[in-house]
Amino acid sequence: MNVKKGISGHQSGEGRTDWDLLSSVSHKLQDTKDIAADIPITHYVHHIHYIHYIHHYAVLPVYVPQLVIQSQLGQVKQQVNKMALSITTLDDLIGQLHKAFEGDVVDVDYVTDLFNAYKSNPIEWKTFAKFDRYRYTRNLVDEGNGKFNLMLLCWGEGHVSSVHDHADSHCFMKMLDGALREVRFSWPEESADSTSSSAAGGGGGDIREMQPIGEAVLETNEVCYINDSLGLHRVENPSHVDRSVSLHLYSPPFESCQMFDQRTGKKTPCKVTFWSKFGERLPTGAANKSNATLPESCKRC
Ligand SMILES: [Fe+2]
Repeated sequence: MNVKKGISGHQSGEGRTDWDLLSSVSHKLQDTKDIAADIPITHYVHHIHYIHYIHHYAVLPVYVPQLVIQSQLGQVKQQVNKMALSITTLDDLIGQLHKAFEGDVVDVDYVTDLFNAYKSNPIEWKTFAKFDRYRYTRNLVDEGNGKFNLMLLCWGEGHVSSVHDHADSHCFMKMLDGALREVRFSWPEESADSTSSSAAGGGGGDIREMQPIGEAVLETNEVCYINDSLGLHRVENPSHVDRSVSLHLYSPPFESCQMFDQRTGKKTPCKVTFWSKFGERLPTGAANKSNATLPESCKRC
């Protein structure tokens, strides 16, 4: 038995059918078994090289097409999903979001695509849009079977949030009307927390003003995404004449987060509340009962 015979035999396979090739490969594997019985130990290294050669030419023709097909099927599936993203109404969007969050893994790109696919129609969301004269409001639209909270945030002229985190949740945001400016920040140094002497104004501590790392203005129908690994942000309505409305999805839902003092990096727990649920204004006492003991600024995450 001769090693080169097997190699030259494969390389001369021009014009063969796949069946011929597989048959040839099968014979080569049998040849390999024969070689294993005959080959002297001094030729062991050469034999290993031959095994590698056979492995590549015997296995790849069988499995590489499968891998290519699987990859291509994945791409086609993604394209089909995107083509199927025809969101015609807010109810349609909510239905698609329920499906998207059925599993345990959140596909950020897909949810972003869903948000992009929906085109804002005020007639569909105006029942949830409730404004307050003094601060922006959070208005629950859907509880997402416990997987997410979907809500409208209504911003009066010049209203602004604190710098805040998102409690390890995903945060998707889409502009429904008007515009919002988003300013992003890095997390402050850990020493600048609420327990440090510096944060308490105790003197001599490490007080560092938080520096913005990015800024963007979102116009109607634009979408953005953030989570804690990407940093913190502050959101504001830059207009002093126009109100704005944004659609937010948080997954998993959370009831508290942290707000940060931009001048010092000091963080403070912040209980989040709703101004209305499912289009119904909550009683003032009920809306803020759970955080009645927190300072007013803490209600503005
Ligand atoms: Fe946020």
